Amino acid sequence: MKKVRIGVVGCGGIANYFHLPELAKIEEAEIAAVADIKEDRAKATAAKFKVPKWYASYGKMLGEGGVDAVIVATPHPTHSPIAVDAIEAGKHVMIQKPMATNVEDADALVECARKHRKVKVMALPFVYFDNPTIKYVDNLVKGGKLGKVCMARVRVAHGGPEKYQEGVAKMFKERAGETWFFDRKKAGGGALFDMGVYSITIATLLLGRAKRVSSFMGTIDKKATVEDSAAIIMEMESGAIAVAETAWTQARGIDEFSLYGTEGVAFWDTSLGTPVVRHYRSSDSSWVTPQLPGEEPLRTHRHFVECILKNKQPIGTVEEGRYLVQVMEAARRSSILGKVVKLS
Ligand SMILES: NC(=O)c1ccc[n+]([C@@H]2O[C@H](COP(=O)([O-])OP(=O)(O)OC[C@H]3O[C@@H](n4cnc5c(N)ncnc54)[C@H](O)[C@@H]3O)[C@@H](O)[C@H]2O)c1
Repeated sequence: MKKVRIGVVGCGGIANYFHLPELAKIEEAEIAAVADIKEDRAKATAAKFKVPKWYASYGKMLGEGGVDAVIVATPHPTHSPIAVDAIEAGKHVMIQKPMATNVEDADALVECARKHRKVKVMALPFVYFDNPTIKYVDNLVKGGKLGKVCMARVRVAHGGPEKYQEGVAKMFKERAGETWFFDRKKAGGGALFDMGVYSITIATLLLGRAKRVSSFMGTIDKKATVEDSAAIIMEMESGAIAVAETAWTQARGIDEFSLYGTEGVAFWDTSLGTPVVRHYRSSDSSWVTPQLPGEEPLRTHRHFVECILKNKQPIGTVEEGRYLVQVMEAARRSSILGKVVKLS
């Protein structure tokens, strides 16, 4: 069987908790190398997942690691430059969210991916596109079952990354310091870029693109130089008004959205652990609570590997990733200027 040899750049939380455990279960994937600027992390991660090669420089891994594909799992502002280097080295790439922290970096990646058409590039978040509960609501919308969806609210939020980052430090027997997520110079953006990217992804998936945005962002609770809370009002191309919210400041992580249409209303939320959908239909004045399957495990990595082996375009294109960055950058500008910002 042909296997895709994968190298993971960044051996922190998401690599150790998500990418490497999933890749280890996929027959068509071989974890060929890992890289981290923290040499001890690269070494310990390689030992844990029985990876034959580890590097303190991703450039060296691209040159000598014998990898066909790369997963970029480093802090946000490094995603675009590392992905560009990997694509130029002829590697397929999966990029953690957010794809970039400004439109300039997103454009550099789009341009590079367009020049190297044979290389498969997949920009996360991918997670919602084949989630059965979101698909169900998407079908309601696309099938006209909610009538005209005039307003929507999407919120993806939790209590902040610091506890999780303490856990990562503990895993490597390091002393936990202040997390890079709170430092504008290292993160390029705060809760909006970390979690709000999901809210905007869901709004885009269900309602299409935005024309104009207006936002408020603030650092209300954390000792951080980035925002810890944000609300963005978007005028969608369809004419609908959507509010995308995010925060690092709530007691419990909950993802939720509400769609308000002329013929029906749909609520989706994860407050009880697994996602639940409730749908009101005006045709018979009834509430519907469908029993839907859970998410398919391993699907993100399976999809990436399958696209490489079968020469297919992955879901989550760089153009979609760029649009998400454009909305976040516009929201940041709107908040600073106190003005509505058009998306050109
Ligand atoms: N999709 C998800 O559910 C999810 C969850 C958590 C994090 N993330 C994303 O994954 C990315 C990483 O987050 P994390 O929580 O794993 O952070 P982390 O701090 O735990 O790990 C990042 C690792 O990258 C390393 N690194 C930094 N610069 C590097 C470079 N130039 N070359 C090689 N290694 C480098 C760091 O030393 C660190 O070990 C973030 O952009 C975050 O938004 C996604």
